[in-house]
Amino acid sequence: MLSMMYLLSILGLASVAVSAPNAVKRAQTVYLAGDSTMAKASGATQGWGEYLKYSLSLSVSNKAIGGRSSRSYTVEGRFQAIVDIVQPNDIVVIEFGHNDGGGLSTDNGRSVCPGAGSETCTSTYNGQTVTVLTYPAYLINAGKALVAKGAKVIISSPTPNNPWESGTFSYTPSRFTTYSKSAAGQIGSNAMFIDHGQYTANIFQTLGKTKVDSFFPNDHTHMSPAGADTVNRAFVKAVLCAGGGFLNGFIKNSTNSVEGTCI
Ligand SMILES: *[C@@H]1O[C@H](CO)[C@@H](O)[C@H](O)[C@H]1NC(C)=O
Repeated sequence: MLSMMYLLSILGLASVAVSAPNAVKRAQTVYLAGDSTMAKASGATQGWGEYLKYSLSLSVSNKAIGGRSSRSYTVEGRFQAIVDIVQPNDIVVIEFGHNDGGGLSTDNGRSVCPGAGSETCTSTYNGQTVTVLTYPAYLINAGKALVAKGAKVIISSPTPNNPWESGTFSYTPSRFTTYSKSAAGQIGSNAMFIDHGQYTANIFQTLGKTKVDSFFPNDHTHMSPAGADTVNRAFVKAVLCAGGGFLNGFIKNSTNSVEGTCI
C-alpha cells in the first residue's frame, strides 16, 4: 500500500513536470529599441513605435529613447536591459541611424566608428579613452545576445528625413540601411531585415509634398503624430510584404488593406 502511494505520488509529480511547459506558455512581447523617431514623445511630435500596438495582437514595449545611437544605446546598457528580460520567441525591433553618423574628432558619445565590419576606433569621450565599434558591430552584438536568449530580431532601416524638403522628391538611403541589412544577415536565421526607410519613402512620394511637409512640424527628422502613424503603417506593410516574418499570425491587417506597394 505504502509503495503504491509512493508510486502514485511519483506519477503525480511526473504529470506536473510534463504539464509545466504549458503552464509557462505566454504571449510574446514585441520590444522596440531605437531613437526619437521611434520613441514615445509628447507635444508636436511623436515616435512611430507608439502606434505599432494597434496593428498587432501582441503587447508592444517601446524602449526607444530620443538622441540614442547604436553605440550609446549599447554603452548605456539599454540593449543589455532588453537581453535581461526577453523570453523565448519575444520579438525585438531594432532601428537606429539618425544619431550614428558624424565623426569622432569631437566625440559626442553617439557617433560610430566608420566601416561595415569589425574595425574599431580609439576615441576620447568625457575625458576617457574609449574603443568605438562600427554600426553593424553594435547591432550584431545586440542581435546575437538577444537570439541567445531565444528572441527573434527585426533589424529595420532608419526612417527618411523629409524627402520633399528640397522642393522635389529625393530619397537616398543612408549607409545605415545597407549596414542594417548586412547586420541582420550576420545575426542569422533568427533575424530579418525590414527596409522601413524605403517603404516610408515610397509612401511619402505618393502622398506628395504638401502632405508630407505637414508631417514635419519642427525639423526634417521628427514627425507629427499623423506622420509617425504613417511611418508605423509603412513598417507594418513592409513586414506583411515579407510574409509577416516573426510577426506572422500576430498582425491584425491583411497586406492589401495597408497602404503602399510591396517592393
Ligand atoms: C490594422 O487594423 C487595426 C484594427 O482595425 C487598426 O487599428 C490599425 O490601424 C490597422 N493597421 C494598419 C497598418 O493599417
